[in-house]
Amino acid sequence: IIAALGTRSVVLVGMMGAGKSTIGRRLAARLRLPFLDADTEIEAAAGMSIPDIFEAHGEPHFRDGEARVIARLLDSGAGVLATGGGAFLRDETRDRVRRQAVSIWLKADGDVIMRRVKRRADRPLLKTPDPAATIERLIGEREPFYQQADLTIWSRDVPHEKIVDECIDALH
Ligand code: S3P
Repeated sequence: IIAALGTRSVVLVGMMGAGKSTIGRRLAARLRLPFLDADTEIEAAAGMSIPDIFEAHGEPHFRDGEARVIARLLDSGAGVLATGGGAFLRDETRDRVRRQAVSIWLKADGDVIMRRVKRRADRPLLKTPDPAATIERLIGEREPFYQQADLTIWSRDVPHEKIVDECIDALH
């Protein structure tokens, strides 16, 4: 357990396919903290899948719900929280994360993301004619926000435990 963390959560931010849920779950186990996944909580709260929420209500509605869910999860006590790729772009959410958590940007290259995001039906933002170009555009738009995370860890094709080790080292 990392003493400097106190009662603060660890929040993982970054693009879809960067490994926030996979790394987050393992990091939580190592830190003996609960693992929370914002996308899963949003789906539970809405009783719908994320693609269905986008389809039925649109992205702005999804973003409002996402901000509320993350606020609630941050208030629920220390844990490791994986956020959806767009969550950290909202000022209110970034401010909240900054106050209540230590944030880690899991940074990944576009081609790594493209390889990992195989089931594109799960990612409504990638339902475009050229998903690889969309990923590059989103990376460009989002990096100025992700850069505001407290820590940056490169997510690449090495064993997951290595990335988890790097997260733990960076948290000390
Ligand atoms: C999104 C990422 C998704 C999900 C939604 C929007 C985004 O989460 O929240 O499809 O804007 O990048 P993951 O980053 O967990 O895939």
